[in-house]
Amino acid sequence: MPQKNANMSNNKLNVDLIDSFEKIPVKIFNDSKTGSSYVAREIANLIKDKQSKKQHCVLGLATGSTPITLYAELVRLHKEEGLSFKNVITFNLDEYYPLQKKALQSYWSFMHRHLFSHVDIDPKNIYLPNGELPKEEIKKECVAYENKIEDLGGIDLQILGIGNNGHIGFNEPGSSIFSKTRLVSLDNSTRIANAYEFQNISQVPRMAITMGISTILKAKRILLMAWGMKAPIVAKSVEGHVTEQIPASILQQHNDCTFVIDENAATELTRIKSPWLTGECVWTPKMIKRAVVNTALKLNKPVLSLTTHDYNENGLGDLLVEKGEAYEINLQVYYLLRDSITGWPGGKPNAIIPAHPERSEPHPKRCLIFSPHPDDDIISMGGTFMRLHDQGHEVHVAYQTSGNIAVTDEFVTRFLDFAVGFEEQFGIDNHKSKTILTTSRNYLATKKINEVDTDEIRSIKGLIRRCEAKATCRYVGLKEENCHFMNLPFYETGTVEKNPMSEKDIHLTIDLLHQLQPHQIFCAGDLADPHGTHKVCLDIVFESLKRIKQSGAAWIKDCWVWLYKGAWQEWDIADIEMAIPMSPDQVMKKRFGIFIHQSQKDMVPFQGTDSREFWQRAEDRNANTANLYAGLGLTKYAAMEAFVRWYY
Ligand code: F6R
Repeated sequence: MPQKNANMSNNKLNVDLIDSFEKIPVKIFNDSKTGSSYVAREIANLIKDKQSKKQHCVLGLATGSTPITLYAELVRLHKEEGLSFKNVITFNLDEYYPLQKKALQSYWSFMHRHLFSHVDIDPKNIYLPNGELPKEEIKKECVAYENKIEDLGGIDLQILGIGNNGHIGFNEPGSSIFSKTRLVSLDNSTRIANAYEFQNISQVPRMAITMGISTILKAKRILLMAWGMKAPIVAKSVEGHVTEQIPASILQQHNDCTFVIDENAATELTRIKSPWLTGECVWTPKMIKRAVVNTALKLNKPVLSLTTHDYNENGLGDLLVEKGEAYEINLQVYYLLRDSITGWPGGKPNAIIPAHPERSEPHPKRCLIFSPHPDDDIISMGGTFMRLHDQGHEVHVAYQTSGNIAVTDEFVTRFLDFAVGFEEQFGIDNHKSKTILTTSRNYLATKKINEVDTDEIRSIKGLIRRCEAKATCRYVGLKEENCHFMNLPFYETGTVEKNPMSEKDIHLTIDLLHQLQPHQIFCAGDLADPHGTHKVCLDIVFESLKRIKQSGAAWIKDCWVWLYKGAWQEWDIADIEMAIPMSPDQVMKKRFGIFIHQSQKDMVPFQGTDSREFWQRAEDRNANTANLYAGLGLTKYAAMEAFVRWYY
């Protein structure tokens, strides 16, 4: 096993790593796409190098959401740059057990869907653990898997993802450093995290066959990729102690392992989160705010109560040297926090407030809220949405996707039943709706696990969500013509896995933007959600704005973009640039607006590890933001919605 302390690998690295607290080399890229291109390039170079020496190239491969962009790039290199996979042999890390390889969710299917079916690899060179074997044959199969890897000279390059609990392959916390390929029982958190592939947790297999940690460590080179929301576990694995409780931390023992991560997955690394502790810090106002806010929160003190002693004790001595008195710095940060709070999200008319987050002119503004799903507007910025409307702005909402996969089958029959009954009640010919009801009922009764719904059923599910969104807009007071249902095509796969954004998505968005010419845009800024719908929706808006700007359209110069957090978490308190307070009554009004989305109530689809309903998550999050502001010494509100400005 090639083990040695990464800190010892060479002097340059030694200094860099100690400086930055990191015990594994980490490469940080802007986004998952550029990170994946880097990894794909390294794989391609290795394959070509082996080809020139007439050797096989043995790759260890991973599945999951992380490597999808990597495989797309490898397919591109094959199709556009002629990269051949003829000399490549692959071993996959793992496979669910028991599961038929032809099942949509098997890793065998995943690998063929994303890579093998699109390149010239010899099918004989593809190895995956076999999830179809009877249990008594598994042990033998696992030994054979290990032997096969060794017979072929070992893995030249192993690709890894990382689970939120630190697992690599399916080596869950507690796995031994000496473990080999074997049958394992999946951690409940892993089953919940992977439930999105199955739609329903009870369908996720309870076991898997996985390469062991020692199998992984034997690879000559390891590249672990992590995007988006993996920041906490990345930091623990790279900066923490080596422990079997965090299997990825054991990679510190490998002498040629690199973590390739995007900016979001890097946010918990000390060099990014608290760069002042690594001695590498440029004291911009933003950085000062972050350092002071973090210190105040850590010490549970209002910002204005921080002392010179607190600064020195918490690694902020340099800041004092550069910027002077603690109290002066406290005040500077306090004003930044204070000025981010406003009850006027569209700007305060007839007032000149230089530090206000929004312009007062023009008033009223044309505001466009992009809502990835038909309920993100009300869940994530319902209070702000209502204020904008109540303060006289012309508010539009663009529902980017139909959201149809999150509607249960029961809703379809319930609404079709209504349609048939309605027509009967009012003497309307209900022959057609009866036929649709019968065919849908029959289809749904025999639908197999994860069978993709028919177009008809998907369109009914979309209609149900559209009616809920319209009802919410009516509740807020919007005119019907201000609701725009975009039905972006990237979403319409009928499965959880979505297509990447297409030209059609961008053109639909550009057309709407030109039509409305908004002064303000609000988007779900889930930058840390690399493969989810929210991120694709955001990318589409960004790309559209970029193109409009390049085209020289005059209106875009006066258009500001605000990002709200659409999914589960909130912005880091230090990054918030506009915080909209809510009274207890407004909190209740927002709650009832969320309740309108009945198809999403009682059983949150794809809820992950969080069992709270959407309204509960929204209220907890908004109350938490208000409490944090109060803890920092600002006025205590019941709740707050938060925004960050995006400059393009
Ligand atoms: C997949 C595997 C797992 C995943 C990990 C991260 O073959 O072995 O360790 O890499 O669960 O999954 P994603 O990439 O979906 O976040």
